[in-house]
Amino acid sequence: MSMDAIKMLQGKKILLGVSGSIAAYKAATLIRLLVKEGAEVKVVMTNAATGFITPLTLATLSKNEVPLNISDHDSWNNHVRLGRWADVMLIAPASANTIAKMALGLCDNLLLAVYLSATCPVMFAPAMDEDMWHHPATRSNVDKLISYGHQQIPIATGELASGLFGEGRMAEPEQIVAFLKTHFQQKNGNKPLNGTTAIVTAGPTIEHIDPVRYISNHSSGKMGIAIAEALADAGANVQLVLGPTSQQTSHTGITTIKVQTAQEMFEAVTTRFPHAGIVVAAAAVADYRPANVADRKIKKGEAQLHIDLEKTPDILRSLGDSKGPQQLLVGFSLETNNEKEYALKKLREKHLDLIVMNSLADAGAGFNYDTNKVTLFDKNGQERSFPLKSKQEVAQDIVSAIIELQHA
Ligand code: C5P
Repeated sequence: MSMDAIKMLQGKKILLGVSGSIAAYKAATLIRLLVKEGAEVKVVMTNAATGFITPLTLATLSKNEVPLNISDHDSWNNHVRLGRWADVMLIAPASANTIAKMALGLCDNLLLAVYLSATCPVMFAPAMDEDMWHHPATRSNVDKLISYGHQQIPIATGELASGLFGEGRMAEPEQIVAFLKTHFQQKNGNKPLNGTTAIVTAGPTIEHIDPVRYISNHSSGKMGIAIAEALADAGANVQLVLGPTSQQTSHTGITTIKVQTAQEMFEAVTTRFPHAGIVVAAAAVADYRPANVADRKIKKGEAQLHIDLEKTPDILRSLGDSKGPQQLLVGFSLETNNEKEYALKKLREKHLDLIVMNSLADAGAGFNYDTNKVTLFDKNGQERSFPLKSKQEVAQDIVSAIIELQHA
């Protein structure tokens, strides 16, 4: 799917609200990117924002005047007009203060007056220090905005203006633009993954010891199935290669291929791979299997029984070795220690585009839970951490990252 030729934001009216955060300097890049994509941009700023970037800069880049005060000439009427003009109102950066005021419906500046009169979809890209981001007041304000139907653009992890490292950075302008593109595509019914075939592996595998016993693991397949559903919702034709689990999906965009062993999963995936644009390997594939499977039940005998194990094929590694330039590979990394180091090593060695790291050390994350807490690392060195969420929401985040990589 080539998106390059099409200016996907052509003619879209974006109302950008800039509030007071050091990330306000990124508003300049954001406006340039939006204008380059064909969007029409109008900017409103809070007074605090003008301390970080001048209205003149943003007016020049957006090619539109930047009103500042409610009492400015014509601004009072403007706030209603602007709110009605826009296809989307985007608050970026959204400071803790502005988020709090939006949640409460306060209206003591022009940005807020415009926000309260906006009849279009609203998105916000928070930017603040990590402790402010985690404060229960901010948590509940963000939840409130989401409950109003607004969309939160994922916050990034990295160096903060305070000099600390953590969650709180505003998403990069490129990510915000990708988020907007996805929004308009979904709205148009022109789904971002229409025409793409995706393979998802999910669940455990079982490796037979004899006709009665097997080696397996605790994977439920819930995360992989949620990803298959999110990909299908985004328009992909999904082939779900599913190990033995009681979980299932009835999504019409998904074909389920049931397998038992790592070898069967390997064969099901490799035969389909040449036709796939995306592979998400969420299965917990057994790394070893009994070297010999007894054809009869092994009888109780000596005090100890030794079973020789041999390696199973590493499905994802073999796909990574043979993938074409248009194919996108996503892997998972579930560890109990040195999580980041192992995840980055896997990303590199298996030639992945994206890796989803989760840790069994996090409460509520891992096998059989309905929630998960992940960090995404992509091949371009971008790292994004997310809070504990439902597996459906995590799946959305992963699919958004996939779509973004496709557009990169
Ligand atoms: O190396 P490790 O097994 O931890 O890698 C995990 C990732 O590789 C997961 O995405 C998993 O689905 C995939 N994998 C695979 N085939 C294997 C083992 C793991 O595709 N045999």
